[in-house]
Amino acid sequence: MTRTPVFGGNWKMHLDLNEAIALAGELRNRLGSHRGAEILIFPSAPFLRPVVERLRDCAIAVGGQDLHFETKGAFTGATAPAMLTSVGCTHALIGHSERRHVFGDDDATVARKLTAALNEGLVPVLCVGETIEERRAGQTFVVIERQLASALAGHDTAALSALIVAYEPVWAIGTGETASPAQAQEVHAFIREWLSDNLGDPFAQATRIQYGGSVKADNVDGLMTEKDIDGALIGGASLKVDDFTRIVRFERP
Ligand code: PGA
Repeated sequence: MTRTPVFGGNWKMHLDLNEAIALAGELRNRLGSHRGAEILIFPSAPFLRPVVERLRDCAIAVGGQDLHFETKGAFTGATAPAMLTSVGCTHALIGHSERRHVFGDDDATVARKLTAALNEGLVPVLCVGETIEERRAGQTFVVIERQLASALAGHDTAALSALIVAYEPVWAIGTGETASPAQAQEVHAFIREWLSDNLGDPFAQATRIQYGGSVKADNVDGLMTEKDIDGALIGGASLKVDDFTRIVRFERP
């Protein structure tokens, strides 16, 4: 089974409007007709529409960094799934570790958000990952399994067909400390096995699993040699066009 690699640039709460449009323009020039991988960009909510416009008719898709599980109502500060699609988003990050750990999204909230994204036809990029304390306590697989089971419960393979999973160990995000290719591969293999056991092997073999956490131009090649690593979700390095371009154009020996 060959899976098309998929790379996501998570811009988090960075850039102003002009910088966001300029970065989108540079990405368009450098990667707008790239064929070797699928490319997703997750700008802050105020910049979604202008970035979608800047990337129109090119190979780079745009997604929301988060969404609310309700469809509309008195939810100050929240973004409804249909708001994302109405500005041209096709994807959404669900359960990013900063949502879980800074904003308190628990497993139940993440599950509701994933369902809301699917109901709106958005492709969910479901983020899972353990903290350093959980890893040290030997709980990594327990945590990953709990996060997967809770988020994906009640959905069949037809509904989840476009799902992307991102394994992002919390201790590697924004710290400069990347999981080694072998450490990442061990968890990716566990995720694929879990998907196979719970949703069937054809689904597991077709589903892309990204690695995220301090991915850089100089460590992507090693990560991408591992058989269950199908791409990356990139924070810091996605703000630098040279670095992000090199990551997307990773080289396999
Ligand atoms: P980082 O962020 O690349 O800056 O570590 C990754 C992420 O949060 O998706």
